[in-house]
Amino acid sequence: MDTLTSIPITRTRQSRITALDFDHLVFGATPTDHMFTATFRDGNWQNPQIVPFGDLTISPIALGLHYGQTVFEGLKAYRATAGHIQLFRPHKHHTRLNKSLERMGMPAVPEALFIGALHHLVELEQQWVPAKPGTSLYLRPLVVATEPRLGVKISEEYLFIVVAMPMADYYTGNLKVKVETGFSRAARGGTGAAKCGGNYGAAFYPAQQAKSSGFDQVLWTDATYHEFIEESGTMNVFFIIDGVLVTPPLSDSILDGVTRDSLLTLARAGGISVEERKISYKALEKAFRSGKTVEAFGAGTAAMVSPIEVIDILGKTYYPSVGPDTLMYRLKNELQALHTGTKKDSYYWNYIIQTVPQ
Ligand SMILES: Cc1ncc(COP(=O)(O)O)c(C=O)c1O
Repeated sequence: MDTLTSIPITRTRQSRITALDFDHLVFGATPTDHMFTATFRDGNWQNPQIVPFGDLTISPIALGLHYGQTVFEGLKAYRATAGHIQLFRPHKHHTRLNKSLERMGMPAVPEALFIGALHHLVELEQQWVPAKPGTSLYLRPLVVATEPRLGVKISEEYLFIVVAMPMADYYTGNLKVKVETGFSRAARGGTGAAKCGGNYGAAFYPAQQAKSSGFDQVLWTDATYHEFIEESGTMNVFFIIDGVLVTPPLSDSILDGVTRDSLLTLARAGGISVEERKISYKALEKAFRSGKTVEAFGAGTAAMVSPIEVIDILGKTYYPSVGPDTLMYRLKNELQALHTGTKKDSYYWNYIIQTVPQ
């Protein structure tokens, strides 16, 4: 079974959609009318339902609030130019969710539950899926430990929720980043490849320091040598050096980005040379200094393809190419064309939701 065939729905009495300004969407601030919830108890996921969006009741001694058993995902539903709605690669997001859950000692979410939750929520909230270029409905699945008791132990109870919110561009301009050689995001054997809350909490302070120096984000380096570039904020990192697309190989300290995988696939299919290899900041500096053409960008579901226009390496500033005729824009356009259905979906990445009159 690919989806849950039906889910009980309690509809909101008063939709908030009329108050939404579709021309000025702010990321994360305007949840749709409803949310999906299911609970894990006695070894099983149960009680899947869609209810009006609202506050949760959770015990102050819920384990997840104290010991960090929280895992999330982020994916998007797009309004295709043909009018229907499509989710981008939900099955790959599901695989990653379960990989993260396993790393955090949490129970897997069955595929039918995950896909069914997304399908029914998006179908219900179809009016919230914006149509303007660059917009989408962002979907945030979250699993959190809810067993009400203290003690450093694996929880036996969980909540799985999915909330949705329309969004436009996550970053509106090009990015300025600083290579981080002091703080670490993720160590070998740690949780870097899991999308768990703690990874983000631990990154706030270094990112805040970088922001106070005028940067948008840090470019994380490996935790052992602080030399090899890993990723940035909520993005995987790519360079295009003299026409070759280079990105760090996946490891247990890098998130297996769905956008990363999609761009690599599109680049290979489009005849672009691709290298998944370690790249040190020293090698990057050398490329800049030797006059090679360097493009740099971050890639992620929320950020899409975000050009990097400034890289600070140990106090020296380098300027990657960011013009509209760069290769990264070709890749970005191809990916966007898949999202909105103007390019043939040869990889069957899109999960189609037909809109129905409501
Ligand atoms: C740490 C981190 N790296 C990379 C990514 C990009 O992954 P994706 O393309 O699946 O959104 C994200 C966003 O989910 C992230 O949080």
